[in-house]
Amino acid sequence: MCSAELTTGSAGSAAGPGFRLDHAAVKAWLSEKDPDALEALWQEADRVRKAHVGDDVHLRGLVEISSHCVRNCLYCGLRAPSRDLDRYRMEAEEILASAWEAHRLGYGSVVLQAGEDPGLTKEFIAQIIRAIKRATPLAITLSLGERSDDELRAWRAAGADRYLLRFETSDPVLYRRIHPDLPGIPSDRFAQLHRMRAMGYEIGTGVMVGIPGQTWDTLAADILRFHEFDMDMIGVGPFLPSPRTPLGGPGAVAFFADPEHQVPNDELTTLKAVALTRLVCPDANIPSTTALATLDRAQGRELGLMRGANVVMPNVTPVAYRVRYEIYPGKACVNETATACQGCLEGRIRSLRRRLGKGPGGRYSNAM
Ligand code: 5AD
Ligand code: SF4
Ligand code: FES
Repeated sequence: MCSAELTTGSAGSAAGPGFRLDHAAVKAWLSEKDPDALEALWQEADRVRKAHVGDDVHLRGLVEISSHCVRNCLYCGLRAPSRDLDRYRMEAEEILASAWEAHRLGYGSVVLQAGEDPGLTKEFIAQIIRAIKRATPLAITLSLGERSDDELRAWRAAGADRYLLRFETSDPVLYRRIHPDLPGIPSDRFAQLHRMRAMGYEIGTGVMVGIPGQTWDTLAADILRFHEFDMDMIGVGPFLPSPRTPLGGPGAVAFFADPEHQVPNDELTTLKAVALTRLVCPDANIPSTTALATLDRAQGRELGLMRGANVVMPNVTPVAYRVRYEIYPGKACVNETATACQGCLEGRIRSLRRRLGKGPGGRYSNAM
C-alpha cells in the first residue's frame, strides 16, 4: 500500500507536519511561488525519498523496439497520421543485443517500449521475453500500450515483471479529447492497470505536465489518483510539443484552458509534481524522466533526483533507431551511445552523493 497519510503530520505519515495533502493542498502546492515554501517542499520530498526508498538510483535500460503506432494521440509524434516518419520495428536479435547491452552496463532491468503496434505479436514478444530471461538476470518491463488480456497474460507467463501504461490525465473529458478511442473500442487505461495488477505485474503509470487543457485541479487530481491506485512506478514529465501533432502546432491554442487555470509545461511545475508524487506515494519507483532532461539538459536529471525521483531510464536503443523514435523533437541523449550515457549518468549520480542501484530494483523484488 502507498503508506502516505494524507493529513497533517499524524502518526505514520510520510510527509511531516505542515504537509496536508488533500486536493486543495496539492493544488496550492502546485502553484506555490514562495521560494522558502518551495525549499521546504523540496527538502520534504528528498527526506521522504531517502526514508522510504533510500539512496540507490535504479537504472532501467530503455529499448524502443518499434515506432509503429495505430493510435491518434493528439500529443505524440509517433501517432499514426505522422506519415513522414521513417518507421522501424527491431528484429528479435537486435532487441536481445540491446538487452544484453543493458546487462553489460550493469543495469538491473530493461524496458521494452513501443507505439501501439499490432506487428509486435503475442508470440514475438513472448519469445523475446523468454530469450532475455534465459540469457540475463534482468527484470523486464513492458510498455507496449493498450493490449488484450490474452496478450498481457501470455507475456506475464513468459516472464515479464512489470508494465508501464500512463493514464495521461485523470480527467475523462480531456482524456477522450487528446487520446481518441480506436473505432468501437473505448479506451480505459485504469481498467487495464487493475487487470494487470491482478495478473501479477508491478504496474507503472504517469502523466504529462502542462498538456493543453490540463488545469491545476486536473493535475492535483492526477497526483491523488497515484495514491488512490497505489501505483508501483510513476513517471511524471513535462509535455513537449511536437510540430507533427495537433497539440504542438499553431492550432494548439484552441485546446488551452484559460490562462488562470492552464498548467504550464515548465520545469518548476514538473518538479513540484514529482515532489508531491513522492509525498503521496513514498515507496513508489519514480523516474527522473528524459522529458525533464530534455527541457533542462544541464541539470534536469539531477533536479528530478533531488526532488523525489529514484530511477533513471537510460536509452540503450541502437542510435540509428533512436533518432527515429521521435515522440517529441530534441530528445536528450538521442545521439549518445549507451556506454556514453552510462558514464555520464554514473557521474551525475555520484555528484549527488547517491549510489547506483544493484539488482532489478522493483518495488517488491529488489532481492530477486
Ligand atoms: N511530450 C512529452 N511526453 C510525451 N509522451 C507522448 N507524447 C509526449 C510529448 N509530446 C509521453 C506519454 C506516453 C509516453 C510514452 O510518452 O505520456 O505515455
Ligand atoms: Fe502511439 Fe503511445 Fe504515441 Fe499514443 S503516446 S500515439 S499510443 S506511441
Ligand atoms: Fe545520456 Fe548524459 S545521460 S549523455
